[in-house]
Amino acid sequence: MAKVVIFGTELVAELAHYYLTNDSEHDVVAFTVNKQYIKSDRFCELPVVPFEEIETLYPKAEFKMFAPLSERKMNEVRATVYGEIKALGYEMISYVSSKATVLTDQIGDNCFILEDNTIQPFVKIGNDVVLWSGNHIGHHGEIKDHVYFTSHVVLSGRCIVGAYSFFGVNATIRDGCEIGEGTLVAMGANVTKQKTEPWSIWKGNPAKAAAISSKDIDL
Ligand SMILES: CC(C)(COP(=O)(O)OP(=O)(O)OC[C@H]1O[C@@H](n2cnc3c(N)ncnc32)[C@H](O)[C@@H]1OP(=O)(O)O)[C@@H](O)C(=O)NCCC(=O)NCCS
Repeated sequence: MAKVVIFGTELVAELAHYYLTNDSEHDVVAFTVNKQYIKSDRFCELPVVPFEEIETLYPKAEFKMFAPLSERKMNEVRATVYGEIKALGYEMISYVSSKATVLTDQIGDNCFILEDNTIQPFVKIGNDVVLWSGNHIGHHGEIKDHVYFTSHVVLSGRCIVGAYSFFGVNATIRDGCEIGEGTLVAMGANVTKQKTEPWSIWKGNPAKAAAISSKDIDL
């Protein structure tokens, strides 16, 4: 059991507080954001403190952190915050729902894995990965750092997912695919190719690569 400070004061932070309080052994003690983003000194009836003062107020020897932020800017906002927290030396927890079926123990830190995900044997999940509710992650797959799955995505077996990738709702990926870093798979897309180029966007059924890069889209 850890005493945990959550980074964020938006809806996802409220959800993280809900999940940790109702379905984990951890005890949420406070929230933190950068000083300029503090709107109130309380959130979910707990203190909100400036991230700039976190080391003094909630030292790393006693507290752990959790930063399950959104997919904004192809996950780069969450990855930056993750990097800043790690640079201060904090241990970061992961949340894995008790209502998910998880048949691997290879899951990194700062992961947020919600109900009804099925994660098959021999899957490897990196750090700072979000699996919203109801995805299928097929056997012998690998998901690298800072990836975001929304809901009801089918990642077939033996796929390798590059860092910073994003999957919209109901996307389907064929088995053995190599998803290049920063790939954006649109909602409902059916990826039938064996490989996607880094920072590409795939839409439709069968999915076709868009002319623009995922770096050029305001996700
Ligand atoms: C791929 C995506 C990012 C495109 O965003 P966008 O560029 O802002 O798209 P727009 O809404 O401006 O639409 C541009 C065109 O692409 C089409 N399009 C958008 N999404 C599409 C999709 N998933 N599949 C097929 N075509 C799509 C639109 O119909 C539109 O076509 P038109 O120019 O012929 O009218 C977005 O549609 C998407 O899939 N987002 C993920 C949503 C999601 O899963 N949300 C869950 C969050 S929990």
